[in-house]
Amino acid sequence: PSVEAAELERTFIAIKPDGVQRGLISEIISRFERKGYKLVAVKLVVPTKEFAMQHYDDLKGRPFFNGLCDFLSSGPVLAMVWEGQGVIKYGRKLIGATAPQNSEPGTIRGDLAISVGRNIIHGSDGPETAVAEIALWFKPEELLSYSKVTDKWLYE
Ligand code: PPS
Repeated sequence: PSVEAAELERTFIAIKPDGVQRGLISEIISRFERKGYKLVAVKLVVPTKEFAMQHYDDLKGRPFFNGLCDFLSSGPVLAMVWEGQGVIKYGRKLIGATAPQNSEPGTIRGDLAISVGRNIIHGSDGPETAVAEIALWFKPEELLSYSKVTDKWLYE
């Protein structure tokens, strides 16, 4: 696939309040960046509880829903959009399993987190979710399309 085609896939990644408070922003960004993915949008925001409930809408029947929404809205969240070939699925691989006790060493949660309610990072779980979450967190004009000199060294 051409670099242009590779640019099409985007995913929403958020460093949750625990990751921000623990000083893990640069560690997490650098893992996505070194892999070769491209940062196309980023902002630090404190979501309202209502916004958090919208973000986790599909989990509203779950027992942890309220606590999870309180937690997401408890402090600054680093919201990002990353772009690159396979970034939705591979981004989840970089993140690791939901429960850090099950995440492999080498993954973000495996290396940096202990408990499921404080698992430091969120990533879209599929193409439809990625589109919806990017639209929820960002205005279209906040998403940048740009080339980097390394693009040609990352893709055939
Ligand atoms: S599950 O349990 O299979 O539904 O897990 P998953 O679909 O991957 O999780 C969806 C989000 O819910 C969070 N989660 C929890 N938070 C707090 N406590 C408990 N027990 C819990 N279980 C799951 C999980 O971290 C996912 O959040 P994000 O922000 O998307 O990673």
